[in-house]
Amino acid sequence: ANPPRPALIATDKDSFAYITTVERWPVIVTKIVDEVYKSRHSLDLSEVDKLKEGKEIIDSIGGLKYQMQRKKPLIPIEDDGKSDIGTWTHVFNTYFKDENWYSATWLFVECYLYRRIHSIFARTKHWKDYDPFFRQKEVAFKASFIAVIEIAKYIDELIYIPKLPADNEKIDVGRIIFHELVQISLWGNSTDLSLLTNLSNDDFKKLQDLGTKRLKELEKNILANDLEKAWNYVSENSNARIDIILDNAGFEFYVDLVLSDWLIQSGYAKEIHLHAKKFPWFVSDTTLNDFNWLFQTLQSEDFFSSASEMERSFLKKLSNRLQSYIANYRLILTSDCFWTSPYAYWHLAEQAPDLYADLCTSNLVIFKGDLNYRKLIYDCKWKTTTPFNEAIGPLSSIKGSPSILALRTMKADVVVGLEEGIEERLSSNESDWMYSGKYAVIQFNMGNK
Ligand code: F6P
Ligand code: MG
Repeated sequence: ANPPRPALIATDKDSFAYITTVERWPVIVTKIVDEVYKSRHSLDLSEVDKLKEGKEIIDSIGGLKYQMQRKKPLIPIEDDGKSDIGTWTHVFNTYFKDENWYSATWLFVECYLYRRIHSIFARTKHWKDYDPFFRQKEVAFKASFIAVIEIAKYIDELIYIPKLPADNEKIDVGRIIFHELVQISLWGNSTDLSLLTNLSNDDFKKLQDLGTKRLKELEKNILANDLEKAWNYVSENSNARIDIILDNAGFEFYVDLVLSDWLIQSGYAKEIHLHAKKFPWFVSDTTLNDFNWLFQTLQSEDFFSSASEMERSFLKKLSNRLQSYIANYRLILTSDCFWTSPYAYWHLAEQAPDLYADLCTSNLVIFKGDLNYRKLIYDCKWKTTTPFNEAIGPLSSIKGSPSILALRTMKADVVVGLEEGIEERLSSNESDWMYSGKYAVIQFNMGNK
């Protein structure tokens, strides 16, 4: 399936693609060098091989940064024995072998960057499972302490509200909770380590204040809002299978789990499938390792060192419930190479037929965050008034396609599904409105069952 419009590209100097390529990537890559340097520094001198490999990694990352900053031609990703290398080589040779870091489509180059980084580690013996972004994710989650506890308390209270609604009054309660938890899950996406490279604890507090009052204020920043449609659909489908195509680890993943907890407890979901990444991706994305780490952290006595007994007990109760869903196969963690492939989701059915067939058996597939959104709509320069169902192409037109809910805070200069006039109003005084992270969209498509 070919996208009908030109793709976002860094040769456009007025674009966020350009800012990303010139400013953000060098910072992200430099931080990796610092990380490896620190990790290497803490090694014992007897770990000669690992030290040597660490040095080679630093050199290779330095080389990568040089190629990027000097607009060098893109080179094939070296064979690191991973199962997706064939896909990458094929896409590279077919479409990108004569391109450079600026001339190739932004979506491809950005995915390529993270796959190149992965390959540098994957080809070593001692660093192949090393996550150069792990420490950042850990620090960020620690700084999210206040919001994490608030939300654990909140869900603890909610869990005791009656199960599936039997009358209108209870339906309203479910509706209010659904609206709140989905918005918390939406705004949880704005704590983004790739974008906000120097967040203070106060910044975290501000970003993560997602109490009822604040949510109301933030609602006006949701530029297209299908939440009520999504609620109508969810409330008509009890015992559903729901899938979440995860985005970022730490706080965002935590709030996604809280939403899952409520959907299961309230009877709307019988099982929830969580789709994580196979390797470190776009700095903050959730990997299988981040998943396990979060559970340990919620149970830990000392991670949130200032938590009171009471506060710790909320976290423990939540994590015990989550563990029990995992044990009973109600919360299922999975991961597929497709999510870290260069392909936009227009190619899901043709490139990952098994994954697609599986998702078609789901009642609702929730796509979290900015990159998933860019991939859903093929990262093209759509008119902002293009209907969402048109921009997701085959995912709404192929017979059998699943219902989709996109929860995205806007961090790239592309958006669809806006009403006439919104773009003009915002462009007139906020030149960065499309990518500042201040605005968001909640978009629902019924699918084609
Ligand atoms: O750099 C590209 C980008 O998609 C940004 O637009 C965004 O800041 C980041 O990567 C990832 O965002 P998210 O974690 O929401 O997918
Ligand atoms: Mg992400």
